Amino acid sequence: MVLRIKEKFERKFGDEIRFLKGLIDKPKSVGAIVPTSGYTARRMASVINPHSGLPVLELGPGTGVITKAILGRGISPEKLYSIEYSSDFYQHLVEQFKGVNFIHGDAFDLDETLKHLDGQKFDAVISGIPLLNFPMHMRVSLLEQLLDRLPEGRPVVQFSYGPISPIAAKPDRYVIQHFDFVMRNIPPAQIWLYRRA
Ligand SMILES: C[S@@+](CC[C@H](N)C(=O)[O-])C[C@H]1O[C@@H](n2cnc3c(N)ncnc32)[C@H](O)[C@@H]1O
Repeated sequence: MVLRIKEKFERKFGDEIRFLKGLIDKPKSVGAIVPTSGYTARRMASVINPHSGLPVLELGPGTGVITKAILGRGISPEKLYSIEYSSDFYQHLVEQFKGVNFIHGDAFDLDETLKHLDGQKFDAVISGIPLLNFPMHMRVSLLEQLLDRLPEGRPVVQFSYGPISPIAAKPDRYVIQHFDFVMRNIPPAQIWLYRRA
């Protein structure tokens, strides 16, 4: 009986427990107090074009809320590449989402993490990494590297808790679009799109 209650509790709150553990272990790299809401995840994934024939790149999948939303857009698991830094999250993701190409590595070091995909273009990048915890020059450099891996005009999608774009404007390099302000998230989140002009 006690065992059954424990199992039920873990099934219902497994992601939250895993997230809390990740937050305690690596507060700077998790950078949030609870997982992203399903609603936010679906808004971010709505930007994907499932008919492009190109794979999608996800950064910082964590508990897999956004991964699930990307698959829900009709992207087949083998067309999704997803880079996660934490080994605990990575192990769980591999077990939970069969067929998705999870890469255990650093999203800021794309030459290394994507070295087996030289020259590969993606339809879009969907990012859940806590950019505000990293210095601005790293955020700009990451964005430039990501945009180089997208066809012109396709977006990098990023959520953030701050009121302004987490990446500084460089109008000669890329265009910034405020896509949504999502109240159905704890705390409420902004969604930003970045594209080559
Ligand atoms: C704010 S959490 C969001 C995760 C996910 N949206 C969720 O709700 O579970 C940030 C995630 O980015 C990952 N992360 C942080 N820095 C990273 C990096 N440099 N490369 C890849 N993943 C990173 C963290 O381990 C964590 O899983």
